[in-house]
Amino acid sequence: MFYRQKHLLAIEGLTPPEIGHLLELADSYVLLNRSGKTQRDLLRGRTLINLFFEDSTRTRTSFELAGKRLGADVINMSVSTSSVNKGETLLDTAATLNAMQCDLLVVRHDQSGAPNLLARKVDASVINAGDGTHEHPTQALLDALTIKRRKGRIEGLTVAICGDVLHSRVARSNIHLLTTLGNRVRVVGPPTLLPAGIADLGVSVFHDMKSGLEGADIVMMLRLQKERMTRGLVPSAREYFRFWGLDAAKLAYANDDALIMHPGPMNRGVEIDSAVADHPTRSLIKEQVEMGVAVRMAVLDTLSRGDGRNDV
Ligand code: NCD
Repeated sequence: MFYRQKHLLAIEGLTPPEIGHLLELADSYVLLNRSGKTQRDLLRGRTLINLFFEDSTRTRTSFELAGKRLGADVINMSVSTSSVNKGETLLDTAATLNAMQCDLLVVRHDQSGAPNLLARKVDASVINAGDGTHEHPTQALLDALTIKRRKGRIEGLTVAICGDVLHSRVARSNIHLLTTLGNRVRVVGPPTLLPAGIADLGVSVFHDMKSGLEGADIVMMLRLQKERMTRGLVPSAREYFRFWGLDAAKLAYANDDALIMHPGPMNRGVEIDSAVADHPTRSLIKEQVEMGVAVRMAVLDTLSRGDGRNDV
């Protein structure tokens, strides 16, 4: 199947075959990465710029690694060292990067929609690496790949997304992807942390962990995003953990073989207890990080072709 789009700005609007293509290609990159072989020819002579206006560990390094494994020249720009600090607008930065003939532009920004704006102004393929509270498409793809490899399928599952859904672009991208592929998605959290109208996205809403986790195959915890909160939406970290933090007792509400996920970075003891985060068989958290590199390789590979030759 084909993925014929120039950019990857969101999961919303992608078709099952487009998502399937990226997951299948990413799966082949997992094997390549594990074999220790590299694929250095594919992006030789291409330039990838990582433009990060917000902090990142996993996403930035995995895009860098993915680009290098495919042979691209990779440049990391972080805002603290760029002219953005001198007052340059996003569009002027875009014009500058465009003049450098960049082929792939990976953008993280605290404003929802910033990557879409850039995509209209630059010649490069733009990849959204997280914009405000909007979307984080490669995170949802890597989560899907992780689930698919462990459960053997990525359809017909019950997935509980728990905690600070209001501020989470990871939640939004996952909701779009998982519902598009025919899974049952639940959001579980206090009313203050669930966006109004979230049920319109085709999810069921739960306000307590017991009923939200009953029958769940996957329990996906979200970080409490204090940096995005303009007012006190939660009492104290201790109280939050008591009601919403995932520990062994709350995990017992879910299916016996339910798997634990978290996009990272984790606040241990706030939304998740170390004993479940580090569970040797049920936690997928480390695997999510590994899948991140493979998924980003698949995305870079696919977008750099950009001419409809995207057969798997
Ligand atoms: C997420 C993000 O930045 O959106 N992190 C990530 O990319 N793995 C989630 C978060 O910050 O909580």
